[in-house]
Amino acid sequence: MPESLIPMNECPIQIEDDRTGTSVPTLKRAFADNLFYELGKYEAIASKEDFYMALAYTLRDRLLSRWLKTFKTYDDNNVKIVYYLSAEFLMGRHLGNSLINLHLYDRIRQAVEESGLDLDELLEQEPDPGLGNGGLGRLAACFLDSLATLEIPAVGYGIRYEFGIFHQIMQDGWQAEIPDKWLRFGNPWEIPRPDQAIDVNFGGHTETYHDEKGRERIRWIPAKTVIGIPYDTPVPGYDTNTVNPLRLWKAEASDAFNFDAFNAGNYDGAVADKMRSETISKVLYPNDNTPQGKQLRLEQQYFFVACSLRDIIKRHLKHNTSLYNLNETAAIQLNDTHPAIAIAELMRLLLDEYGIDWDSAWRITQKTFAYTNHTLLPEALEKWSVGLFEYLLPRHLQVIYEINRRFIEDVQRWYPDDDQLVGRLSLIEESGEKYVRMAHLACVGSHAVNGVAALHTKLLKQDTLRDFYKLWPEKFFNKTNGVTPRRWILLSNPTLSEFYSSKIGDGWLKNLDKLRQLEAYIDDPEFCEQWHQIKLYNKKLLADYMLKFNGIEVDPHSIFDIQVKRIHEYKRQHLDVLHIITLYNRIKQNPNINIYPRTFIFGGKAAPGYFMAKLIIKLINAVGEVVNKDPDVRGRLKVVFLSNFNASLGQRIYPAADLSEQISTAGKEASGTGNMKFAMNGSLTIGTLDGANIEIREEAGFENFFLFGLTAEEVHNLKSNGYKPSDYYNHNQELKAVMDRISSGYFSHGDQEMFKPLVDSLMYHDEYMLFADYQSYIDCQRQVSLAFQDSKKWTRMSILNALRMGKFSSDRTINEYCNEIWNVKSVPVEMEGYNPESA
Ligand code: G1P
Repeated sequence: MPESLIPMNECPIQIEDDRTGTSVPTLKRAFADNLFYELGKYEAIASKEDFYMALAYTLRDRLLSRWLKTFKTYDDNNVKIVYYLSAEFLMGRHLGNSLINLHLYDRIRQAVEESGLDLDELLEQEPDPGLGNGGLGRLAACFLDSLATLEIPAVGYGIRYEFGIFHQIMQDGWQAEIPDKWLRFGNPWEIPRPDQAIDVNFGGHTETYHDEKGRERIRWIPAKTVIGIPYDTPVPGYDTNTVNPLRLWKAEASDAFNFDAFNAGNYDGAVADKMRSETISKVLYPNDNTPQGKQLRLEQQYFFVACSLRDIIKRHLKHNTSLYNLNETAAIQLNDTHPAIAIAELMRLLLDEYGIDWDSAWRITQKTFAYTNHTLLPEALEKWSVGLFEYLLPRHLQVIYEINRRFIEDVQRWYPDDDQLVGRLSLIEESGEKYVRMAHLACVGSHAVNGVAALHTKLLKQDTLRDFYKLWPEKFFNKTNGVTPRRWILLSNPTLSEFYSSKIGDGWLKNLDKLRQLEAYIDDPEFCEQWHQIKLYNKKLLADYMLKFNGIEVDPHSIFDIQVKRIHEYKRQHLDVLHIITLYNRIKQNPNINIYPRTFIFGGKAAPGYFMAKLIIKLINAVGEVVNKDPDVRGRLKVVFLSNFNASLGQRIYPAADLSEQISTAGKEASGTGNMKFAMNGSLTIGTLDGANIEIREEAGFENFFLFGLTAEEVHNLKSNGYKPSDYYNHNQELKAVMDRISSGYFSHGDQEMFKPLVDSLMYHDEYMLFADYQSYIDCQRQVSLAFQDSKKWTRMSILNALRMGKFSSDRTINEYCNEIWNVKSVPVEMEGYNPESA
């Protein structure tokens, strides 16, 4: 065995020390021990993945004592727990995050280096678990980090998808999708708990019967049962002993193997049932904001909700004699409508399985649930056909009909003269095929409904959910989103973090408002110069990455102008492209024109079935191909599409940005969270008055934000007065030239058909009003270029953005949820003689 790892025979493993100790020699020994005993390898034959796995086990071991103590503390004290139900959790890589949250980064680096290995290389081996599509799933992950950091008892519940969001590659400039086999080498972070499996039923029918007291009751006779196996992943808080679980459910067949079929020679049939059941947790649905009403998706939703509720009830009944006080021990948050079927499921359990009367069951349900809405796009509001519901969940449909009957009765009593109101509020859409409206179920069955930014909540009240707001104004809350500064500053931008801590200590990591203290340095030239150098350093790192993975050389002194997020027409990546082509046209007209160099960087995935989004990706790449190579451009414009945008790529990108593109049509983006990550890392925003941009601008100062475009109200008015995009095309020379260049086939090797669908959709429809905002955007971009040329001024603006983002720490958001919606308190976990700093 090579010398760098201590030979086993010279170091008898002392289980306790080697699994909890954090001195460098102990960590080294534990690392070697895990390689040997968990992976069955020694250094000479181990791959980088093996070393990563051994390191991951070493960290997980160090979380376990805290995890178990956390569980014991909650259990002993029968505390109120937040249950965050979400179909998506985009956790990002665990290893780096555990290292920072446990304060073990430096010691592990030393231990790994002394073993002759490179920590950064090992960190790169971890697959980035893509169990989410974008902002919604990442928000859930930031919330779990803040909950643990704030020592709030909490459990995240979701689905353990075998395949997460696809891996995106580029083929001839088009997106191609490859399955994401994130579990290929096993997952060292999770612990399966088959002993806590739960049965979940589907299909069949219902029947009435009389119980022993002669009361008429209903029971569900299901057609099929699937088993949910929980897999627990530890979620450590920063600088606390709290380690909360993320519990993800995997579907398995109840009878793994049909022996009768096998013995009868039907080999395929013998395993078919098993496969069908396991399909439920096979793959994450890509989000194109038009739910397809697929049976499997409803099965997924019910599956994880049914498992989670049974788990919650089991935990409650351990210390309580009945379910009447469930809301005293459980606050269940519905992350969008994906888990909204939980409302019907809890009612069913209370009524049918626990024999509770309707009124009490309804009271318990309403007091326990709260619902977060994440979108204003009407086409994105989930609804399920009544037929599908009846087939899959016949008892739930009855419960929903009964909830609706009673609700409508109330509405008629409150508003006797408004027939249309009933139709608008009903849980069932009745025009044409009948549908169950999940957002309505969520509003009626929850005590709190919230939007995710001030404007979004205002528009929910005014428009999307206005009838519900009219009934229950007191139910509506705004909870502006936030992101965790641990992952999005400390882990992503270590150089900046060290710089901060060298000035004011590291208290800012748990109280981001403290960064404002650094405003005292804003006139200090040395401070500003150091800031500038840190940004430049981060840009160089990203430039190296782009050279390595895209083969494109970019100038780190150019403006790094970045848009990364899901590709969607409302987010308007193509407006950014119109700007690039405008600059290109100016250069073509006059190659000597003074244009400040810019690197346009894009990243994001398009839902595989969303043709227009995929065409936007192709357009970005096609424009890049021409612009990057044109000698007239002389390197002043570069366009780079970074494939497979995910949390770990985000960690490289946000710190390197100068300009953050937040250019959705006003009134369409609920909040945005990328906008916060950029600003926290000192990039300036060019944005519309949409989502959380508005609040970012208020915090940063109006003078430190590049504002353009119509307001939500103006968008609405222009639409109602008859918007004609062709008017803009005909009257704006530059816009016309841009569109004509695309139509001419200039970016598609002469093919005039390729981008026609996109061009036509803008010229004749322009749902998201790119043309209406075009001129304002172009003018604003000119301001950006001018401002950037005054480097001192730009740096000052950049600093002020970063220092004033305290509001957008998810700690602030979670505190608000705790105090105003969940009514939960922090429960510190005591570890005798244990101090995370010195352990
Ligand atoms: C969605 C919304 C976005 C919001 C996020 C979290 O994210 O569209 O505005 O910030 O949920 O609330 P998306 O799926 O679009 O990334």
